[in-house]
Amino acid sequence: MTTRPLVADDAAVAAALAADVDWQFLLTVGQGFGLVAADGSLIGVAAILPYGAPQPPARFRFGRIAAVAVRPDQRRRGIGGWLVQAATTMLRERGCVPEVDAKPELRPLCLRLGFSGGPELTRRHGAATGMPSWFLSAGTRMRAVTDGDLARLGDFDQPIFGADRRAILAHVYRCGPERAFLAEWGGRVTGYVLARPVDGGLRLGPLVAKDAPVAVALLRQALDASGGQPVAIDSFDRQPELNAYLAGARFALAAPILRMQLGKTLRGDDASRLFASAGPLFG
Ligand SMILES: CC(C)(COP(=O)(O)OP(=O)(O)OC[C@H]1O[C@@H](n2cnc3c(N)ncnc32)[C@H](O)[C@@H]1OP(=O)(O)O)[C@@H](O)C(=O)NCCC(=O)NCCS
Repeated sequence: MTTRPLVADDAAVAAALAADVDWQFLLTVGQGFGLVAADGSLIGVAAILPYGAPQPPARFRFGRIAAVAVRPDQRRRGIGGWLVQAATTMLRERGCVPEVDAKPELRPLCLRLGFSGGPELTRRHGAATGMPSWFLSAGTRMRAVTDGDLARLGDFDQPIFGADRRAILAHVYRCGPERAFLAEWGGRVTGYVLARPVDGGLRLGPLVAKDAPVAVALLRQALDASGGQPVAIDSFDRQPELNAYLAGARFALAAPILRMQLGKTLRGDDASRLFASAGPLFG
């Protein structure tokens, strides 16, 4: 068996192993690699996504391990563990603390490799039907995001996320610009939400806001614009007001997502202002 980097032309083959992954984009912003059998076929894939320079109060740069998948006939032979370990080495060589948003299936393997952490997010599924009402506080203005807002969104997001993910935000925005909204107060950005089409519906996120009332107002706006399509959102468990609103709108809990890291880290994000992630691949 050998390894090789994945290039844009590999996107279709990699998708056969991990279908729910935006490989074209992941291979643009991150680096993918694959394990190749003697017959030349890919039997395992993974990718790393190192984020930009850390922002205070982060003390460490970090990076994500994404899209770990092994061909079904090759599982339980140590290949998944090998892929995570290889991704870990690649991130460390770039000075990044490795992090993964893992499905429960990956947890035992990550624990074995020394990762720690636990459930932090939950995937919820629903649609924009029967949404409870919600009122914006006086002075807050909500409007659609335009191309010209991207730099300001990046400036707002960076200290909250704890690292530079402008390329990811721009990509998610371009996937569904008509469903991107921002909140402003006195001309300053106080929150934003993005959404992109995925198979059979919409994936909503990131959702970042100065407080829960603004976050819920943005969520409601994005749901209003969803045209009744099925919506998935990975919301942080530590946001009770947002999650109560989702429950009121009859969003069902689908799966826990575990945020696991390797090594001691002060991640530096502002947890109180992160409401939903961009999805397991992107943070
Ligand atoms: C999750 C996934 C990547 C694991 O890949 P894998 O190659 O089976 O992983 P490993 O073989 O390294 O480890 C799997 C288990 O097999 C065990 N194992 C490894 N080698 C073994 C061997 N020779 N004999 C018996 N068991 C073995 C490991 O101890 C591990 O057990 P654990 O989960 O209780 O720790 C794979 O199941 C997969 O592709 N799933 C679908 C995609 C997915 O869910 N990806 C996760 C994204 S977050």
